[in-house]
Amino acid sequence: MNPPRVIGHRGAAGHAPENTLESIRTAARLGAPWVEFDVHLSSDKIPVLIHDDTLDRTTDGKGAVDKNSLADLRSLDAGQWFADQFAGEPIPTLEETLLLLATLGVGANVEIKPTPGREIETGHAVARLLREQWPSVLPPPVLSSFKPESLAAAREVAPHLPRALLISRLSGDWARILRELDCTALHSGHKRLSASDAEQVRRAGYPLRVYTVNERAISDRLFSWGAEAIISDYPDRIL
Ligand code: G3P
Ligand code: MG
Repeated sequence: MNPPRVIGHRGAAGHAPENTLESIRTAARLGAPWVEFDVHLSSDKIPVLIHDDTLDRTTDGKGAVDKNSLADLRSLDAGQWFADQFAGEPIPTLEETLLLLATLGVGANVEIKPTPGREIETGHAVARLLREQWPSVLPPPVLSSFKPESLAAAREVAPHLPRALLISRLSGDWARILRELDCTALHSGHKRLSASDAEQVRRAGYPLRVYTVNERAISDRLFSWGAEAIISDYPDRIL
């Protein structure tokens, strides 16, 4: 099953603290059929949801995510930076996130977001967990990454799970990488994407999904260029 036309970004990052369970619940409440979120590894190699390599922006901790054990990470607050009403929201594990997705009936685009140098082990760990614990009631997840090494590692462990290459703009050898990694789609940033870029992707035979689009006028234009899906902090604006 293909992903839907609208996917919540980091849950619904415009409305709730990104990459938390509350952000995913919010996306579901707003009607997003799928969410995207970012996965890093803790120092003890547990996949957790967080975007940056460091804790400083989105938690009350400091320093590198991958220098902290799961127990350390679980003691942090990942909600209050966004608004007081979200104080106490923890950094979720990928495992508990899958349980929530099953309860909500929400699908996912799981972005493998390795700390530099941990591309392969992050790809392996994320794909292994998805292979073993992805809820059978949901359509298969799409694994995406900016790092071809992480996608290759995911393919070794879970070749049956669809993969998408992430790029910020269409340049270089994206088509070769998609082919070599048996990717099923391209996920591109929208800021430097043109109609002729979209046409190139279409001619290469790949669905195009575009991030992070928060305005309806822009999503309308991208859909008119043939984009298959939009990833948005405000899925309610695009739906
Ligand atoms: O997966 C789409 C988008 O999330 C990629 O960029 O930096 O928001 O993870 P970023
Ligand atoms: Mg992301």
